[in-house]
This record gives sequence, C-alpha cells and structure tokens, in this order.
Amino acid sequence: MSGDPGSGHVRHTPVLVEAVVRVMMTGQSGLFIDGTVGTGGHSAALLESGPAGMSLLGIDRDPAALDEARTRLAPYGDRVTLVQGDFAEVERIAGGRECRGILLDLGISSLQIADRRRGFSYLEDGPLDMAMGPGGRSVADLLGTAGEAEIARVIREYGEERGSRRIAAEIVRERRRGPIERTGRLREAVERVSHPARIIPTLARVFQALRIWANRELEALQAFLPQALRLCVPGGRIAIISYHSLEDRMVKQFFRGESQGCQCPPDFPRCICGRTPTLRLLTRRPLTPDAAEKDSNPRARSARLRAAERM
Ligand SMILES: C[S@@+](CC[C@H](N)C(=O)[O-])C[C@H]1O[C@@H](n2cnc3c(N)ncnc32)[C@H](O)[C@@H]1O
Repeated sequence: MSGDPGSGHVRHTPVLVEAVVRVMMTGQSGLFIDGTVGTGGHSAALLESGPAGMSLLGIDRDPAALDEARTRLAPYGDRVTLVQGDFAEVERIAGGRECRGILLDLGISSLQIADRRRGFSYLEDGPLDMAMGPGGRSVADLLGTAGEAEIARVIREYGEERGSRRIAAEIVRERRRGPIERTGRLREAVERVSHPARIIPTLARVFQALRIWANRELEALQAFLPQALRLCVPGGRIAIISYHSLEDRMVKQFFRGESQGCQCPPDFPRCICGRTPTLRLLTRRPLTPDAAEKDSNPRARSARLRAAERM
C-alpha cells in the first residue's frame, strides 16, 4: 500500500495489544493463527513475545492488507505464512494442523478506511464498494436490488440506527434517479432525512451496517467459532476482539455455551445430556481499553476482548 494515492502511509494501531498477548501466550510453542492479520500489528506482538519455536499463520480477505503484513512480518522469516482467504474457512486454510492459539480482531483497519477508492468512509467521496476482498458484492450492487424493508432491517439490526425506515425510504427514492454508485450520494440521501446535530454518528452507523451486510461479517463469525474450537489443542486459547454488540453477543453466547457442563434439569436423578465443558472462560466480562488508549486511538472506543481456553 505504500505510495498509494488513496491511502497514503496510514498506519493501523492495533487495539488491546498487551491484553491480547497476555491472554494468548502461555509460554508454549506451536502454531498460532491470526484470522484477521490486517497490517500485522497483533501478529508482530505475538511473535515478539512468544517462544522461538512458535509459528504463525496469518489470514486476511484483503490482498492490500496482506502486502502490509508481509513487509511488517518479514523479520520473522519462514515462521510466518500468510494466506488470502476468509476466516469462515479457517479449518480448510489450516489444512489439518492444530493450533495453540487463534485470534480475531474484527472489522476493518485504518488502512482500508483511509483508501477512498474502497468506499468505506463517509468522509470522502468514492465508489460505493466496501468489499473487504475479491469476490464479494458491492454495497452499490446490494442497494440497487434489495427491497426497502430489507435495507431498513440491515440499517436497524447491523447499525442499531433508529431512523432506519426513514433512511431506507430515502435511499429507495434516491435510486429511482439512477443507481447510487458513490459514497457522496449515499451520504447526501442520509443527510436529507437525519438530524443535522447527529449526522456524523448516524452516517457512521449506516456505513457500518452496509459494510457488515455486504461482507457477510456475522455469518463469517458464526461459521468461524466452532472451527476455532476444533482447531485448538487442549490448553490452546481463542481470543476475539469485537466492535459491535451483535458480534460480541455471538462470541459471549458461544463461549458461555461451550463452558457449561451438564444442562439437564436440576430434578433429574442423573445426567442424560452427557455434555462436558469444552472451554474455560478467561474473561467473565470483556476486557476493554483504558482511557488513555481510547483517547489516543478512536477505533479502540468500542473494542471488547473475550478469551477462552480449550479444555
Ligand atoms: C481490525 S483489522 C485487523 C488489524 C490487525 N489486527 C492489525 O494489527 O493490523 C481487521 C482485518 O480483518 C480482515 N477481515 C475481516 N473479515 C474477515 C474475514 N471474514 N476473513 C478474513 N479477514 C477478514 C479485514 O480485511 C481487516 O484487514
């Protein structure tokens, strides 16, 4: 990405780095998987603090992010393998190998937001794309074909935006004048039906919702969780940083469900469900950045880290 006119030299500051290292590293060697390697910030911290024999498999949907990670992680030589792909297919990508730790840092990186040609930012005009990697559908394409009720649902559920119906109706009105293919036109449509004093948070919620929809982000996380469990050796750690309450709830419920043993009613004389816990929770409540980190890195403000150990 260096020298790129869209992104410039943007550096992504990884969130909750010390906490990630603390919950993931047990001093044991083996394979670690970073399912959202991005520009390699968390991966570098893990490699730096881990034993010399540890290796790392870094996955990202975005070829541009992988280029950054390749440069940043070059000092670790053949201990690092980088693969372009979706963490929803992590078992296939790991190719039958087990791992000692697996990390997700969800969402998008500063690098992606800063490149106006990718359409993630409502601050600059660009093509209304928002695809994290090759093969997905663009937001322009989805907004051109989806029904008004579907657009409203997406904005309400994924953006937690109360004005979802009004905004969806305006988007549908706007597309009658021609396909909405620029972020600027989407922004203007949202602005026309939103309160000017709250326009920035409203735009942030709408753009986030459309990004989650186009990239099927919740579906990917849902597919990932049981695979992460199967991939980890006993004592292996799963750590996930989320930035959205739907993602955090999904992780919390999965970890909680897998950390419970017998779920037979209390009046049963003996267990018939046969369930044994497969995970031990390492974080009863999510870990969040302190005030200093939130001040210095706005992306950190909504971050929540949950971690669990394979039993
Ligand atoms: C917040 S950034 C990660 C930043 C990284 N931890 C670092 O320190 O640079 C999230 C990354 O996850 C990638 N990503 C999001 N969903 C993905 C998926 N389903 N599969 C693979 N990569 C994904 C994005 O392309 C982005 O590069």
